[in-house]
Amino acid sequence: MPSVMTPKVSVIGAGNVGAEAARGLAARQLADVVLLDIVEGVPQGKALDMLQAGPIVGYDSLVTGSNDYKDIAGSDIVIVTAGLARKPGMSRDDLLKKNAQIISSVAQNIKQHAPNSIILTVTNPLDTMTYLAWKASGFVPEKVVGMAPLLDLARMAAFIAIELNVPLTSVSAMVLGTHGDLMVPVPSQTKVSGKPITELLPQAKIDAIVERTKNGGAEIVAHLKTGSAYYAPAAAAVRMAEAILKDKKELIPSSVLAQGQYGLNDLYIGLPAKLGKGGAEQIVEIELTKAEEAALKRSAEAIKANNQKCVK
Ligand code: APR
Repeated sequence: MPSVMTPKVSVIGAGNVGAEAARGLAARQLADVVLLDIVEGVPQGKALDMLQAGPIVGYDSLVTGSNDYKDIAGSDIVIVTAGLARKPGMSRDDLLKKNAQIISSVAQNIKQHAPNSIILTVTNPLDTMTYLAWKASGFVPEKVVGMAPLLDLARMAAFIAIELNVPLTSVSAMVLGTHGDLMVPVPSQTKVSGKPITELLPQAKIDAIVERTKNGGAEIVAHLKTGSAYYAPAAAAVRMAEAILKDKKELIPSSVLAQGQYGLNDLYIGLPAKLGKGGAEQIVEIELTKAEEAALKRSAEAIKANNQKCVK
C-alpha cells in the first residue's frame, strides 16, 4: 500500500491516549502515523486494526506499529504519551518520579532518531514532563510544546455549555497555568458567542464551574476506576498537531517555555501560544485580572517545585 500522506507523526505510548490520538490523526487524514510502545505486539495490533478501519471510514493514512525508535525517523511531530496514567486516589504528583525517567529516555531517543521533529508532550504531570523533554532533547524551546490547557479549557467550555444550554462549540474558554489543582481558569476571557460569561452567569455559578474544571480529570478517574480520560486528551493533541502541520498560526493555550512573558522565567507553563510549523512560535500576552495573575504565579511556583525534584 503506498504512503499517500506526506507528513509523518509518531506517537510514543500505544495506551489509551496514544492509540486514540493515532486514530484521530489517521481519521482526519493529517499524516502517516507510527505508533510505538515498549510492549511488544500492542502497537502492531492496534495499528493494524486502525489500518483496517481505513476502507470503512474512508481514509488512506498509513498506520504502523513498532517497538523500534528507528521507525520514527523523519517525523514532523512526535507525540509523547508514554508513561503511567493516574489511578483513583493517586495525585498527579505521585506520577512525577516514574514518568520523569520515562520522558527523559523517550526524549533522548527522539533527539537521536527524529532530530528535526516537534515534540508534543501529553504525559503527566504535564508541565514538568514538557520541561524534562526540552532539557533531555536539547531542542529549541519552540519545538517542545505540551498539551493540557486546551484540554482544560475544553472541559470548562463543556460545563458552561451544559449550564447555559448552548452548543458546545459556541463557548470559547480560557485556562492557563499548570495542568493540575492549581490551574488558572480565566473567566474574564471566557465567552459564549462573544459575550463574557461574567455577564451571563452569577459569580457563584462561575465559581462552581471553575472548581469542577479543576477537578475535571479526577471526576473521570473516579468514574472509570481504572485508567484516566483519553478521548478529550487525544482530541486536544490531534488538534494541536493539526495547527502545527497546517502551519495555522492558531492561538491555542499550550504548555510553553516562559522566557519573561507574564513575569515568568525558566519553566514550561500553560500560556496562550501561536502554533505553526515552527511549533509554539509565539507566546501571546493577554490581559488578566489581579486575581488571575496571582493564581498564575501560584501555578508557576508549584511547577517549579516539581521541576526541582526532577532536575539534578
Ligand atoms: N516507552 C514507550 N512506551 C512506554 C514506556 C516507554 N518507556 N513506558 C510506558 N509506556 C507505554 C505503556 O506500555 C502504555 O502502553 O505507555 C502507555 C501508556 O498508556 P496507558 O497506561 O493507557 O495511559 P494513558 O491513559 O494512555 O495515559 C498516558 O497521558 O494523559 C496522560 O496522565 C496520562 O501520563 C498519562 C499519559
